[in-house]
Amino acid sequence: MKILSLGSLNIDHVYNVSHINVEGETLSAQKLEHKQGGKGLNQSVALARAGAEVSMAGCVGADGGDLVETLRQAGVDVRFIRKVDELTGHAIIQLTDSGANSIIIYGGANMQITPQMIDETLDNFSSGDYILLQNEISNAAYAIRAAKERGMTVVFNPSPISEEITSYPLELVDIFILNELEGQDLSEAESDDGEAVLAALIKRFPKAAIVLTLGSKGVMYHDAENDISYPAHRVSVVDTTGAGDTFCGYFLAYFMRGTPPRQALAAATKASAIAIGKRGAAASIPVLADVEAAVC
Ligand code: RIB
Repeated sequence: MKILSLGSLNIDHVYNVSHINVEGETLSAQKLEHKQGGKGLNQSVALARAGAEVSMAGCVGADGGDLVETLRQAGVDVRFIRKVDELTGHAIIQLTDSGANSIIIYGGANMQITPQMIDETLDNFSSGDYILLQNEISNAAYAIRAAKERGMTVVFNPSPISEEITSYPLELVDIFILNELEGQDLSEAESDDGEAVLAALIKRFPKAAIVLTLGSKGVMYHDAENDISYPAHRVSVVDTTGAGDTFCGYFLAYFMRGTPPRQALAAATKASAIAIGKRGAAASIPVLADVEAAVC
């Protein structure tokens, strides 16, 4: 069983700042680093490091060679990544010493993904394979429909939330992986309380499995046979960028190979706890041996 991760590849420009900039303020950064990121790339790396057979599809510009190399080195199949005549997507990330962040993304090449590219890529996958999508690319709604028509299992991480997302064919999604704020937006729950959001999501998407991450409060999981709450580990925060992507990739890699959901949640929780102890997005994603050996 294979997984196609169709998503964004970003160059992350990480600025170390004393605090998150406020409206009208000019702030000097103490340090600037350029790192590999993008939710699609991060989740692909996490899947591969967790042992899944993963192909990534997406677009980069002429300046995106490092991103493709990062994926290749992680063991991701990069055949379906196209080079287009646009700047590679990027993120401007403010990061404080306490690990707080604020992110602006520029889609760039990520917004050049066309229905034709999606169809050509999907021709290499079939019923029983998985597709994983986030919301940082063009034509995500088309991809959900086209993958479902081919009998693939559709996994959607609706991040970042946008106004258009509610017009996507979300009823076709088999597995949602999302946080409480994204869950509240999608389900129109009245509060961001985990229980309330999960109940509203189940009502809105009764056939889907739901993985609802709650930050320091852990994670809740629901499907037709399971209702699980799993606690977060207490760790000191260095940088949370990419921790959600680490969770997503690790959870799916375990889930796809038939690991019961509770154990998949346990591995993903450990992997993301390790990731938030390191700087960077893709760079902070642990390898399987470190996750298995870790006692958080
Ligand atoms: O989820 C973290 C990612 O969000 C960063 O790597 C950044 O590129 C943005 O896409």
